[in-house]
Amino acid sequence: MKKNLTWLQDNDDALIADLGKLVGIPSISTDGDHQTQITQCAELTCELMRTAGLNNVQVLKTGNSNPYSYGEWLGAPGKPTVFLYAHHDVQPINYVQDWLSDPWTLTARDGRLYGRGAADDKGAIVTQLGAIASFLKTHGSLPVNIKMLVEGEEEVGSSNLQAFFAENKERLMSDVIVVCDTGNVEVGLPCITYSLRGIVGLHVEVQSASKPVHSGSSGGWLADAVIALNVILSRLYWNHKKIPVPGLYDKVRKLTGTEKRAFRKLPGDDAKWRSDLGVLEGVEFALETNTHPHEATWRKPSITIIAQEASSIKGASNQVLPTAQAIVSCRIVPDQEPEEVYEQIKALLVKDPPWGVKVNVKPAGNVKWWMTDPEGPAFSAAVKALKKGFGVKPVPIGCGGSIGFVGPLAELFGGAPALLLGIEDPLSNAHAPNESLHAGDFRKLTVSLAHLFNELGSLPDGKVK
Ligand code: BES
Ligand code: MN
Repeated sequence: MKKNLTWLQDNDDALIADLGKLVGIPSISTDGDHQTQITQCAELTCELMRTAGLNNVQVLKTGNSNPYSYGEWLGAPGKPTVFLYAHHDVQPINYVQDWLSDPWTLTARDGRLYGRGAADDKGAIVTQLGAIASFLKTHGSLPVNIKMLVEGEEEVGSSNLQAFFAENKERLMSDVIVVCDTGNVEVGLPCITYSLRGIVGLHVEVQSASKPVHSGSSGGWLADAVIALNVILSRLYWNHKKIPVPGLYDKVRKLTGTEKRAFRKLPGDDAKWRSDLGVLEGVEFALETNTHPHEATWRKPSITIIAQEASSIKGASNQVLPTAQAIVSCRIVPDQEPEEVYEQIKALLVKDPPWGVKVNVKPAGNVKWWMTDPEGPAFSAAVKALKKGFGVKPVPIGCGGSIGFVGPLAELFGGAPALLLGIEDPLSNAHAPNESLHAGDFRKLTVSLAHLFNELGSLPDGKVK
């Protein structure tokens, strides 16, 4: 590994420059207005794959999906095949005025690299390619086979990914999955994520009349759709207890004592979390009483109103509004069933509508949760590799976010182990202004991935599980 480490040190500037090029392309997938940039980003990713030494590099698509970048190196017969995943699409820039530097110019500040997509998830692409190149440019070969896929529509729910996997099953078939799209609970502390939450979305619309009416002549008389909607939404307020949706917790898998203790031992305290989240003075955490933040965000359901629309402040006029709508997003956990959760929340929303207003609820997408037992040869290899790369023993953690394909892909690959490693940290501000990654952790993850290939390549009989 000495040659690899030297190569990575010598090419540090070049790797950061690659990240700069990726961040320079606004490959926003959430608005449908950046298809040219998404195509450009997929092509740039392919170019970087070729430069790293991967073969068979190409842009792939299925149906009307955004472009996937794909590359492989299959010169290690008898060794495990590692499927690498990252995504090249990014979230939009809202709160433009809050960015301290241009979101599309990778900018170094205080040991961090700022830019939209730096942490989520373009940094991951470069760490994977750095690890690959550190072998191919020095030894001319890798200790494992590699199949690398970089998706272009993760931030909009990966809706074509299942079809893509099914269509390309032979091409993609691998022994172990490495997803780099999660994070660490603290800078410098490598984490292996073994659970993800899922999502159940509901679009709720309230209607009271066929048109808006002057609020002077009808206020107090005509049912206000906005108040009705908010009365309904207020039923979701949990006030430090359980979320008051009947049945919601019936199937929630209990944490083991070991898990509870392990989560509580992780670094972090109220002051740090308050500062990480930017909580204002006097505002409480919304946690259920006696629930640790990690327990709450990793293994309990949560409900968020991610959008609400009636009329804009700018266009406000004296009217009683006849319609109002919102999107309710519920993060779900093992062993909740998405369809069941949808019905449970819907039942609460449509029950006894204020003033008898019409309440219409429609599905707004769902994503499966995932959980594995982080044991076996692949996980041991990851533990060793991260320990070497970070100089610190890695810890198993959960993740409150969602990556819907992990479970189905592991199944498609016949129960392949999935290793979720990443470079986000509590200050990364993914999806928010001033997104960044920690430059030191970026280098450490790159080195760890190189070690991981080595460890996986040295497993007896190539057995990863
Ligand atoms: N990288 C995130 C997943 C994540 C979230 C990792 C939080 C670590 C902490 C991923 O890109 C993401 O944002 N996923 C979406 C999925 C959705 C679009 C289906 C999410 O969790 O909201
Ligand atoms: Mn991501």
